[in-house]
Order: sequence, then structure tokens, then C-alpha cells
Amino acid sequence: MSNKEEKPEGKESSWKDFIYNPRTGEFLGRTASSWALIFLFYLVFYGFLAGMFSLTMWVMLQTLDDYTPKYRDRVANPGLMIRPKNLDMVVNRSNSQQYSKYVQELEDFLLDYNDTLQEQNVQCKEGDYFDQDGPEEKQVCQFKRSQLRQCSGLADTNFGYSEGQPCVLIKLNRVIGLKPQGQPYVNCTAKREIPLQMLYFPTEGRIDKMYFPYYGKKSHAKYVQPLVAVKLQLTEQDYNTQLTIECKVEGSNLRNNDERDKFLGRITFRITVTK
Ligand SMILES: *[C@@H]1O[C@H](CO)[C@@H](O)[C@H](O)[C@H]1NC(C)=O
Ligand SMILES: *[C@@H]1O[C@H](CO)[C@@H](O)[C@H](O)[C@H]1NC(C)=O
Ligand SMILES: *[C@@H]1O[C@H](CO)[C@@H](O)[C@H](O)[C@H]1NC(C)=O
Repeated sequence: MSNKEEKPEGKESSWKDFIYNPRTGEFLGRTASSWALIFLFYLVFYGFLAGMFSLTMWVMLQTLDDYTPKYRDRVANPGLMIRPKNLDMVVNRSNSQQYSKYVQELEDFLLDYNDTLQEQNVQCKEGDYFDQDGPEEKQVCQFKRSQLRQCSGLADTNFGYSEGQPCVLIKLNRVIGLKPQGQPYVNCTAKREIPLQMLYFPTEGRIDKMYFPYYGKKSHAKYVQPLVAVKLQLTEQDYNTQLTIECKVEGSNLRNNDERDKFLGRITFRITVTK
């Protein structure tokens, strides 16, 4: 019996000794100087790691340029987008309150293309890329909204919505460094048997090369994308039916038939105009 009672007592004292042993002065099985060495080791070790990390970061950051992205394996293909930003438009041509949201959106979008504003930009040479190597702040080729003629919102402030022949603006998304080869233009078709008459502004839906390349938000702050306006010349029998229109960028090396990406170089939208 007495033996049995001694055992747990012995264990307890060794447990206490383990935490702090007054005879050897050990704490958790190590002497103070041993602990001090361990702490010193880890201090130096982590200090070294932190130093390495900061040094590598610093060296990496030195090699980065504020103005152009460093790694660009291949220039991406741009997507197409339309304004008004609505892929399912319904226009009641005799109800100005109904279509005013579209007109307002076009008007807001074209503020950047204001002729007076654009006159401060460069009149570039048509048909050539506008390469700029020198200064950090890149110049911008002018694109005046008046170039959109009947779709400029200047002569016809309703962009054709009141007469039931609405304008839609098509823009190519910005891609840094993109230089399309060939002569890109926008071609829209209605998905039905009888072709739908459309007017393009600028003529033939051309996207001039002078608007490329784009140098990025920082160095090309005032850049404006080239636009193509399409005026749908609807007639009596086109009203009250939903039309599906597909627009593609053609005539260049820009991709427009990617199976997975419906917006790569093309866009499909629906529009219903009622009387
Ligand atoms: C279009 O607007 C007019 C005038 O507000 C209205 O009388 C007509 O019913 C509307 N048409 C449709 C199809 O909603
Ligand atoms: C363009 O801007 C000028 C001055 O900033 C302004 O007077 C004019 O009304 C604007 N034009 C359009 C069409 O917005
Ligand atoms: C526009 O696309 C349609 C359908 O793909 C085609 O028949 C037509 O020839 C094209 N027009 C131009 C000017 O490329």
C-alpha cells in the first residue's frame, strides 16, 4: 500500500522538476543560458529571413517601370462593348420618357469626345500607328464626336430614338500595346433572312490604326477609344419585333470567333422598337 502511494508522489515531483528544477536551475529541461542561445539563434535566423525577403523585394521593385507592365507574354484580344450598355433594349419611339435613359447614357458617354475638348489632342495621320517612344506622358489622337455625324447627338439630339432608327455605339476595349494588323472595321448583321439596312459612322465602320497602340492608364491618361456608331434603319415592318444584331470586328487579325468568349471581337444584342 505504501509503495503505491509513493509512486504518484514521485511523478508529481518530477513534473514539477521539469518545469523548474531548483537543484540544477533548469527551466523546462534547459538552463537559462541554453534558452538564451535558442532565442538568439531564432532571432538571427528570422532576422536573416526578413532581410532576405526585403532585399529581394527591393531588387524586384527596382526593375519595375511605373509606366509599362513588365510581364506581357502576348497581347490580348480586345472585346467589344456597346453603348447604351444594354444587351436587351426596348425602345418606344413615341415615348421620350421611355427612351431618354438611352439618350442620356449616350450623351454622358460622349462628353469625353466633345469637339472642343478633343481639339486639344493631336490630329494624327490616318492609317498609321501612333507610336510614341519619347516622353512619359503620351499624346492622344483626337476623336471628335462630330465624326459620328447622324449619331453624334449634335444635329439630332435624340440619336435617332425618336424617329425609330436608333444609334448604338460600339467600342473596342482597351488593350495595352495592341496594334491590329490589316484594316479593322465593324460589321453588324441582323440575324434573320432579310438584311437590315444600317449606316456606319465613321464610314464603313472603320477603326483607324492611328488610335493604336494604347500605352496604359498612367502614361496615356487622356486616351479615348475609337468608336463606331451604327444607325439601325428600321422600317415599318421592323417595329414591334425583337431583332438580334451581331456586330464583329473584321478585316484584321483581331479574333472574333472564339467559341468560349462571346465578347471577343464581337457582340450580340437585342433590340425591340415599338411605335
Ligand atoms: C409607347 O408610348 C406611347 C405614349 O406614351 C403609348 O401610348 C404606347 O402604348 C406605348 N407603346 C408600347 C408598346 O408600350
Ligand atoms: C463641349 O464643351 C464646351 C466647353 O467645355 C461646351 O461649351 C459645349 O457645350 C460642349 N459641347 C457638347 C456637345 O457637349
Ligand atoms: C458583313 O457580314 C456579313 C455576314 O457575315 C457578310 O455577308 C458581309 O459580306 C459582311 N460585310 C462586309 C462589308 O464585310
